[in-house]
Amino acid sequence: MAKYRIALMPGDGIGNDVMDAAKIVLEEIALDADYTPADIGWEYWRTEGEPLPERTLETLRSCDCALFAAITSKPKEEAEAELIPELQGKGLVYRSPIVRLRQAFDLYVNLRPCKAFKGNPLNFRDDIDLVVFRENTQGLYAGVEFHPIPAAVREVLEQHSPRMAAFDGVPSDDIAISTRIFTREGCRRIVRKAFEYAQQFGYPTVTLVEKPNVIRETSGLMVREARLIAGEFPGIELWETNVDAMAMWLVKNPQDYGVLVSSNMFGDIVSDLAAQLVGGLGFAASGNIGDSLAVFEPTHGSAPKYAGLYRVNPTAMLLAVRLMLDWLGETEKAQKLETAIANVIAEGNVRTYDMGGDAGTLDMARAVAQQL
Ligand code: NAI
Ligand code: MG
Repeated sequence: MAKYRIALMPGDGIGNDVMDAAKIVLEEIALDADYTPADIGWEYWRTEGEPLPERTLETLRSCDCALFAAITSKPKEEAEAELIPELQGKGLVYRSPIVRLRQAFDLYVNLRPCKAFKGNPLNFRDDIDLVVFRENTQGLYAGVEFHPIPAAVREVLEQHSPRMAAFDGVPSDDIAISTRIFTREGCRRIVRKAFEYAQQFGYPTVTLVEKPNVIRETSGLMVREARLIAGEFPGIELWETNVDAMAMWLVKNPQDYGVLVSSNMFGDIVSDLAAQLVGGLGFAASGNIGDSLAVFEPTHGSAPKYAGLYRVNPTAMLLAVRLMLDWLGETEKAQKLETAIANVIAEGNVRTYDMGGDAGTLDMARAVAQQL
């Protein structure tokens, strides 16, 4: 039996293109692993009414980790219209399989490194090396939402918060509420992972990105817990910034930051901003990490207009492989892969369209494989 069992989930659209690129590189890396294909994406929604079939969850339960490429998602009505006729009118509702994966396997860390590779013409600056830790299961994305607000919910809110008086006279039909729920443990575990990462990879600071002066209770809890955890890591400084100011600082002085940690919504926004500083979608990889499973992916979507053309940049996907290797503890192979990617970018002979070249997806993967 191989040392690792790894699920490969190409998904759809350019997901297939970039997964083929990953396979070229994986073959060269020769990890002691069994690779198991697993179904996810639009095709399974259309034909089975389920973009994340139970058999895929079953496969994932038996795997150490997974590589996922990209899928298509569409709004509710559009999604229903594309179901095969036999499945129409059955009340099937499209749900994001990625959000479901995160919740089903409690993948509470969303890890997004943003590093400028030397010679990338898309860099905002060449000296950026930051890593965003985004809480992945709670906060504004937990899905506890109301519209209209039920009478009982409204009553309790009015009883317990004098601030509700501001909405006196507004019909419940005209009020929508999305809750932002943080747990103490939820705050602790994401902050702890951020500090552990800073320690492991030698980053001198962890910056907490919240808004405790306004969102007092949730952001406040996160700040208090972060200060306690910072005490366990004497060599690493905790910086605290408000999310709005952070957006400004990231454009002004991104080179000053190391590890950033934030809640679900703020982390989502900050990580997209950070990704664009180092080349955008073609370069942004992420890990969804829990205690029993981790899923690594490029952050881009299925880019339907490029599907099957093998023109998009595989770097984000290859960096997802690099993250996976690190997470598995294969640090030497991880470092080698990163160096190979960095060399191909720096040499500049093989470049996809987004970097101003005309090489294809697999050309770039082969160039990286050759450097390994
Ligand atoms: P997208 O990320 O698929 O593509 C937007 C544009 O970015 C593309 O048209 C292309 O110009 C560029 N791009 C994306 N990946 C690239 C790459 N590797 N190299 C070079 N250029 C690249 O986002 P879009 O168009 O908003 O969404 C398309 C579909 O993907 C939608 O159905 C959406 O719901 C889904 N999606 C899926 C995600 C996932 O699987 N994690 C994430 C984001 C969107
Ligand atoms: Mg996003």
